[in-house]
Formats: sequence, structure tokens, C-alpha cells
Amino acid sequence: MKKVARITGFAIGAILLVVLGVLGYIKFALPDVGPPPDLKVDATQARLERGEHLAMYGMGCLHCHSSHDKMAFMHPANGPLGAGQADFIPGVATPNLTPTGIGDWSDGELFRAITTGVSKDGRALHPVMPYDNFGQADPEDIYAVIAYLRTLKSAGQVQAKPSFDFPFYFIVNTMPEKRTPGKRPDSSDTLAYGQYLVMSASCAHCHVQRDDKGAPIPGTEFTGGMAFEQPNGTVCYTANLTPCPETGLGKWTKADFIKRFKSYADYEGKHLPLKNGEFNTEMPWVGFSHLSEEDLGAMYTYLHSLKPVKHSVEKYRKVDPKMVAAN
Ligand code: HEC
Ligand code: HEC
Repeated sequence: MKKVARITGFAIGAILLVVLGVLGYIKFALPDVGPPPDLKVDATQARLERGEHLAMYGMGCLHCHSSHDKMAFMHPANGPLGAGQADFIPGVATPNLTPTGIGDWSDGELFRAITTGVSKDGRALHPVMPYDNFGQADPEDIYAVIAYLRTLKSAGQVQAKPSFDFPFYFIVNTMPEKRTPGKRPDSSDTLAYGQYLVMSASCAHCHVQRDDKGAPIPGTEFTGGMAFEQPNGTVCYTANLTPCPETGLGKWTKADFIKRFKSYADYEGKHLPLKNGEFNTEMPWVGFSHLSEEDLGAMYTYLHSLKPVKHSVEKYRKVDPKMVAAN
């Protein structure tokens, strides 16, 4: 009996050591994407123009990295451009990208953070920052964004760094990896160009199904259903963008698609407060209304090339009847 107990004790001890070893490795040796590249981005006029378009709209950087009034229709900005936002998602701020936040970062450190998700101090960033997509982008696009970010005016304050709970505290370190940079296809190759734009804009970060921990469920990209709770007692769900005729964009023509995006240009600069229980949306319609008809058309071509998936999504729901009734 004693012998069995001793062997069991040894076995448990050995397993514990292995587990501690693995966790120690994940915590101290990862993320491992190498040092930041030695890089000096020249701010040419072409880069500044392209970088502004990408940072503002095409890659959504400054949509996430600025604060918004979530009680107004489509969340108009309510703080300085690029100064970050506390509690972008619970417990995670978007950092300040003006010189107040990244003034002492090198171009290489910015490039590494944007494309691999490793911050200046070596910590792994929360994957809500779409570095998985940006790592596949054309490095020239990232250089353009960096050149433009350097023109932002100092504003706001340094945002707090997040502290992650167990087990995410460990998992987050396993996520950054070296990526193979892509090449921006020529716009005449409509399908490949559309795919590149949809990837750059991280459409599938939102238009996806997620598990109860918030991790995307593989294979559900573009089928929609991710929920966004709004502070006015409602929740909106992302739409199915696959070409399913009943539950997705199957019946939309290219002209419908372009018109829908362009129709939101009228909301630029408008601040429309909502009452409790009224529909609000997380979709960055106003920013995307700046995309050209050619770019929107290419995105449509790509989305219509996807496999149609039947997945019906409710658009919005009132989640807190008390708040809605108090209205
Ligand atoms: C969907 C929202 C979202 C988008 C789009 C986005 N970011 Fe982020 N970004 C975040 C969040 C959230 C963090 C913080 C994660 C953390 O602290 O763990 C972050 C972190 C960063 C950091 C690290 C800063 C630091 O202090 O550690 C940089 C640099 C950055 N983002 C730049 C960009 C650029 C450039 C783009 C566009 C190419 C971009 N981001 C697009 C949400 C976003
Ligand atoms: C930050 C999250 C987010 C991102 C990023 C996002 N969407 Fe959305 N989208 C939503 C939500 C939420 C809805 C549903 C509410 C609505 O219609 O406004 C939606 C709705 C839509 C609709 C309307 C579908 C319908 O049936 O009415 C289309 C089309 C669409 N998105 C396309 C896109 C494309 C293309 C991209 C990338 C360029 C994208 N979205 C990026 C959140 C997002």
C-alpha cells in the first residue's frame, strides 16, 4: 500500500513539475517573435496619404484607438483622435497612438506590435487588436500607417495596460507568431484585391461566431452572430455576410452593397443621442462610407465568392427590460 502511495506521489510530483515547466516556458520564453526590425520609415507624400486612409478607415486603427460615445447612434467619436479609449472591452484599453503614448517607440517597435502583437516591452497584446490580419498585409501598407501615425498631435493620457486573468494570462503569450507578409494585389484582380481589403478591414473579427470566452469559433468566419452589448440596454449582433439567399447577402446586388455603405456618409460628424432600448450598431458604417466604390465593389465580389452558409441572425434585442421600461 505504502509503495503504491509513494509511486502515486512521485507521479503527481512529476506531472506537477512538467506543468510548471510548461507554464514557466509560456510565461517567460513567449511570446518569441524576435527583436523589432531595424527600420526607418520615410514619410513620403504618397505614404502619408495612403496611411491616413488606412489608419482612419481601411484598417480601422483610429476607430478603435479613439474614444466614442456609445449612447449615440453609431458611436461618434467624443475624444481626441488616436488618444485611445479606456475599457474598449472590459478591462482592456486601446492604447494612445499619439506621441503621448508612442512618442518614444521606434518605427521597428511599431511595426512589430502592429504585425505580430508584441508590445515595446515584449508583452503579448490582447488579440482584439487584429495583428493576425495586419501581419499578412503588405509591409508597404504598414509603413504608410506608421508614417501617418507620426503626424498625430499629442493628446489625452497614457492608457492603463491590461492585466489578464488565468488561464488567458498564459494563453495570450502563445498567440503572437511570425507572419509571412503579403503583397497588395493589383485592383484589376478584383477577387484577390477584395479579399485583401476585407482582411485589412478585419470584417471577420466581428462577423464571426465566438465561444463564451470570446474566442472565434474556427470555420464560422463571415457567418455573423457576434453580440455587442450597448449601454442603452440593447444588444446588436453581426450579420451573416456569406451569399446565403435567405440569411446572408445572397440577394444583394453589388449596387445595393455599395449604396448601403455610401448612405452612411450623411452621418459624418453627427451626434444623435439614443434613448434606452433603441437600436444602435457597432458596425463602423461612417468610417467605411469613405471607401471608394471600386474598393466596396471588390469587397462584394470577394464576399459573394464565399460558400453560402445558412445562419440566421437576429439584428438586435432589448436585453434589459427594466432599463427599457424606465425610458
Ligand atoms: C478592433 C480594434 C483595434 C483595431 C482595428 C486596431 N487596434 Fe491597435 N490595439 C487594440 C487594442 C485593444 C490594443 C491593446 C491590447 C493590449 O493592451 O493588450 C491595441 C494595441 C496596439 C498597439 C500597442 C500599443 C502599446 O502601448 O502596447 C499598437 C502600436 C497598435 N495597437 C496600433 C494599431 C494600428 C497601427 C492599427 C491599424 C493598422 C490598429 N492598432 C488597429 C485595438 C485595435
Ligand atoms: C466592429 C465590428 C464590425 C466590423 C469590424 C464590421 N462589421 Fe459589419 N456589422 C457589424 C454589426 C454589429 C452589424 C449589424 C448591425 C447593422 O446592420 O448595423 C453589421 C452589419 C453589416 C452589414 C449589413 C448586413 C445586413 O444584412 O443588413 C454589412 C453588409 C456589413 N456589416 C459588412 C461589413 C464589412 C464588409 C466589413 C469589413 C469592411 C464589416 N462589416 C466590418 C459589426 C461590424
